[in-house]
Amino acid sequence: MTRAKQVVAREKPVVAIDGPVGAGKSTVARGLARELGFSYLNTGAMYRAVAVAAREAGVGADTPDLERRLAPILAGIRIAFDGERIILDGRDISALVTTPEIGDLASRLSAIGIVRDRMRELQRAAGAHGGVVMEGRDIGTAVFPDAEFKFYLDAEVSVRAHRRYEELAAKGVAIGYDEVLAQLKERDARDTGRALAPLKRADDAIVVDSTALDIFSVIGELKRHILKTINAGKGLKRS
Ligand code: DC
Repeated sequence: MTRAKQVVAREKPVVAIDGPVGAGKSTVARGLARELGFSYLNTGAMYRAVAVAAREAGVGADTPDLERRLAPILAGIRIAFDGERIILDGRDISALVTTPEIGDLASRLSAIGIVRDRMRELQRAAGAHGGVVMEGRDIGTAVFPDAEFKFYLDAEVSVRAHRRYEELAAKGVAIGYDEVLAQLKERDARDTGRALAPLKRADDAIVVDSTALDIFSVIGELKRHILKTINAGKGLKRS
């Protein structure tokens, strides 16, 4: 997983965490970043920001001539994070991005090449110097195939649906468990089945199944693994 020739390229490592909806990526990535003193990037939120921008421009997944309509939106898009808040073109859209509708549109738009190209470009720029925990679907496979640490987080679908349901309920989103489960299965199928950078485990990623694990103990395990590898002399400084 850790390859010395790559480790010397950045002063600090990139930690890639990929996996499906509800596997616990956000909690783990955020917690791990805090523990390591790294920054945290939620790339799903970036795709959701694209969905918000598209919807506000009257563009949906079925809009004719979709790529031509998306091109100027992507060219001018400004996505920033302020702690947990996501800022689109200077405006806080945190409350908008969490809805199931935006998640669905994000998933549909994320299958489009120009959307992925632009997001990959922004994500690579954000992680160029390392010291970042980046979570998503294709971080270890397409965005940072040379990431020093790669993890693939998974869990049984019913456990993931329960987590997602509770997350949405806590945010006041009115939706039943069965609907959450159905949406999650649909999104899994789309994210894993798309032609471009589909969700899949990188060959060199460590798989963590969080079905029966407390998410917070996962953070501890990953942190120990990372620090042990670093301390074992694989070095992080430029030579
Ligand atoms: O992680 P999330 O559920 O917020 O992501 C929303 C959608 O964005 C997801 O269904 C697929 C897409 N996505 C992607 O294609 N690549 C990523 N690295 C992150 C998210």
